[in-house]
Amino acid sequence: MQLTTTFLASLTTLSSITSVANAHGYFTNPKGRQPGTAYQNACGQQAYYNMMGSINGNIQGLEQVVANQDDYNPDECWLWKCKGLKYADNVDNVQTYAPGQTIPLTFTIAAPHTGHANISIIDLSTPSGTILASNLKHWPTYASTSTPIQTSQEDFSITMPEDLPASKCEKGGECAIQMFWDAPGVSQTYESCIDFVVKGASGKRDGEAGRGHARDFGVREVGE
Ligand SMILES: *[C@@H]1O[C@H](CO)[C@@H](O)[C@H](O)[C@H]1NC(C)=O
Repeated sequence: MQLTTTFLASLTTLSSITSVANAHGYFTNPKGRQPGTAYQNACGQQAYYNMMGSINGNIQGLEQVVANQDDYNPDECWLWKCKGLKYADNVDNVQTYAPGQTIPLTFTIAAPHTGHANISIIDLSTPSGTILASNLKHWPTYASTSTPIQTSQEDFSITMPEDLPASKCEKGGECAIQMFWDAPGVSQTYESCIDFVVKGASGKRDGEAGRGHARDFGVREVGE
């Protein structure tokens, strides 16, 4: 990417914003959604610079950044769904999972702040990202500042549900795994999304119950 003078100047002014965002984190394995031109077109240049400067920042901070920006399009941005980050910028980063699969995830807590967190599967076709499966993981207390960062809060597994609605999550851009971490004490909320598709046998899912067993839950290539 070409670093223009404008871009660098924006990063400099952003340092004051990011220093306020002292709690934050993001999916690092698999890597969560990243900003790109689709994000810039929907949420505006300032939001794009903000996410390029630090992907970890909070949604309330983004709301302040986009306020009064001419190129912020609220009907396409949807900051409360995956921080507004877009599938179109992440088409090459779609995971493939089977129903019932155990999925190891890494969410890096770049700086803790006491809150609560949970992981859902969301329907990306709705503006708010309707929850299809909730509490795949749930922490009543997350990233407490009164204890060292818990390894189990950064490295953990979820299980892909076997009962997602039929015809959902079959194509990229339909569903995401969303981490939601809210730190009420500082009025900051963080999200990170992983795009995925579900492939593999599930009688409940695709009506092929007659086959009666998993076809292949083994390692398979993405995009087969
Ligand atoms: C779980 O995450 C969803 C967003 O994905 C959020 O709306 C909900 O408030 C969260 N629940 C808790 C208990 O944190």
